Amino acid sequence: MPWIDSDYRKRRLAPNNKNRSSSMNALRRLSVAVCLSSFCLSPLAHAGEVEVLHWWTSPGEARAAETLKKLVQAKGHTWKDFAVAGGGGEAAMTVLKTRAVSGNPPAAAQIKGPDIQEWGQLGLLADLNQVAAEGKWDQLLPPQVAQVMKYQGDYVAVPVNVHRVNWLYINPDVFKKAGATPPTTLDEFFAAADKLKAAGFVALAHGSQPWQDGTLFENLVLSKMGPEGYRKAFVEQDKATLTGPQMVEVFTALKKLRGYIDADAAGREWNVATSMVINGKAGMQIMGDWAKSEFTAASKVAGKDYQCLPFPGTQKDFDYNIDSLVMFKLSNAENRKAQEDLARAVLDPAFQKDFNLAKGSIPVRLDADMAPFDACAQQSMKDFKAASAAGTLVPSMAHSMAASSYVQGAIFDVVTNFFNDASADPQKAAQQLYAAIEAAAQ
Ligand code: GAL
Repeated sequence: MPWIDSDYRKRRLAPNNKNRSSSMNALRRLSVAVCLSSFCLSPLAHAGEVEVLHWWTSPGEARAAETLKKLVQAKGHTWKDFAVAGGGGEAAMTVLKTRAVSGNPPAAAQIKGPDIQEWGQLGLLADLNQVAAEGKWDQLLPPQVAQVMKYQGDYVAVPVNVHRVNWLYINPDVFKKAGATPPTTLDEFFAAADKLKAAGFVALAHGSQPWQDGTLFENLVLSKMGPEGYRKAFVEQDKATLTGPQMVEVFTALKKLRGYIDADAAGREWNVATSMVINGKAGMQIMGDWAKSEFTAASKVAGKDYQCLPFPGTQKDFDYNIDSLVMFKLSNAENRKAQEDLARAVLDPAFQKDFNLAKGSIPVRLDADMAPFDACAQQSMKDFKAASAAGTLVPSMAHSMAASSYVQGAIFDVVTNFFNDASADPQKAAQQLYAAIEAAAQ
């Protein structure tokens, strides 16, 4: 009954509440008269509005967000888009805090990892236990993932996907023209970068936001220190690891890497950097697989037009970033139902497929059929399961999975200052890293 849907949506937009509720009553009566099947009745009986804060605003990611909007609308609800541009979500989090402080948070917000606990402590989150019990989330989700979605044992968030952060994207055409070989080790990476640079290409496409620098940094930490060293550094924040010789090597490699980025990187968003690889201006990009959303939107085929390689030296590891939608307490019963329908929709197998195909990530449901996915996503799922069994899964620091937002901010400050100062000393940077983390963790 599409006509009921569109009429209904127009009325929902009416500014006058009285008109709105009388039109809703009329509509309900009409729905009872017209629809005899429960299929017709249920969307209207549950109709509410759901406002969703996210930062999926690049052209590719916006296509993914659209799949969620459509699903919510198909259930008869109104989707209120609260998109805040800016990769990594820093701007989105600032806006969210302002809204929450003024007592008006959205129904759902893209909040991840340990930050969920910080929001839980404020007492603002709604529980999804009933929806989770109905949907058997405890059985469906990997236990490590389910645990992150809970605050004091209650589900307060729903996971959307699993992104892998330790990817290197390459343009094979550019590599061929430069006579470069796809790298599997850090030494090979720098050798390839030299060839690309000598042939007149931008060797490494990069932007300039702290989270992008943090993404390079954590890939180097994983490559040089392995999953155990990575965890010690970012999760345990262990002094000896943060200030030790391997961390000094990481900063030295980061400095070297800086030399392969073009002079115009300042202010560049990650998706613009991806487009440099797509259009053959640059040879490589180090980025999580949301970058694949841009390749897909540009109709580029994985394994043919571009290649994804695990970041050199991290082939057996999986640096994960799980997007999740956290739910805020709502007073309006219809909106609460819309919120619950949103949570249900996110773990729906069809949504998991459509959203993740567009987003570049893999489904968070481990029972997902991977046949429709591209070669990169299939490898990602295989590697995720293998790393999970081998204990080589690590949480992304730059994408808020490893530490609190305070610790993350302290790491970003040190890394970005180091990255932008040609004369900075790697030894000193490692000392500063520990001092900054220690101060932020108190
Ligand atoms: C991450 C987020 C991804 C993607 C990326 C770029 O933090 O988890 O979904 O949006 O930022 O903005």
